[in-house]
Amino acid sequence: MNLKKLVGIESANYVKDGMIVGLGTGSTAYYMVEEIGRRVKEEGLNITGVTTSKATQVQALALDIPLKSIDEVDYVDLTIDGADEISDDFQGIKGGGAALLFEKIVGTYSKEIIWIVDESKMVKHLGAFPLPVEVIPYGSAQLFKLFNENKLNPILRLTDDGNPLLTDSKNYIIDLHLEKIENPIELAAWLDTQVGVVEHGLFLNMVNRVIIGTQNDGVKTID
Ligand code: 5RP
Repeated sequence: MNLKKLVGIESANYVKDGMIVGLGTGSTAYYMVEEIGRRVKEEGLNITGVTTSKATQVQALALDIPLKSIDEVDYVDLTIDGADEISDDFQGIKGGGAALLFEKIVGTYSKEIIWIVDESKMVKHLGAFPLPVEVIPYGSAQLFKLFNENKLNPILRLTDDGNPLLTDSKNYIIDLHLEKIENPIELAAWLDTQVGVVEHGLFLNMVNRVIIGTQNDGVKTID
C-alpha cells in the first residue's frame, strides 16, 4: 500500500464545499491535490485553492481547481500539507521540497492545518532531518559562516548539476545538519532575527491535526 496516497486521499475528506483550501507541496500533498481535483471534476466540489508552490500551482491548474493567491483571500479555511518530521509534541520540520516560505505564509493565514505523513516522519525529537533555512543569495556566504561558527553544520543545497538550488522566490536553501534540536523554540527565535534569513523550516505550534499512514494499522489521525 502506498502510504502517501492513502493519507493524501483520506485528508481530502476534510475538504467541504465552499472552503478556501491551502494546497501543500511534495510527494504526499500531490495525492491530496489529485483527490481534490477528482472531487471537483466528478462530484462538483466547489472550492478555491491557494497553492504553496509553483509545482502545486501547475498541478492544480491541470486539474481545473479554481485558484486564488494568498493576497486575494481574507483567510484560508484549511491547509493540507506534508511534513519532513513531526515530533511527539506536534512540532514540525518542513521545507524538504524547498517550498517552506509559501507553505509557512499560507499556513499562517489558515484557520486549520492538517499534516499528512507516513509513519517514518514521526520522531521523538526534531533534527535528524536537516533543517532547511531559506536565505537571500546576497550575503549568503556570510550567513553560512555565521551558521558554521554557531556549530549548526550548514550545507548549501545544490541542484543535480552542482548549482545552488533556487526556491520559487529565487532564494537559496541552507540545510542545517543538527541531528537533534534540543530547543526548537530558541533556535527558531534566533533564526528569525538573523539578517538575510527569509524563513526557516521550523513550523512550531501550527498544526491542528496529523494524519499518519502506517503499514500495520492503516490510517491514524491525531488531533
Ligand atoms: C516542501 C515540504 C513538504 O511538505 C515536505 O518536504 C514533505 O514532502 P514529501 O511529502 O515529499 O515527503 O515541506 O517544502
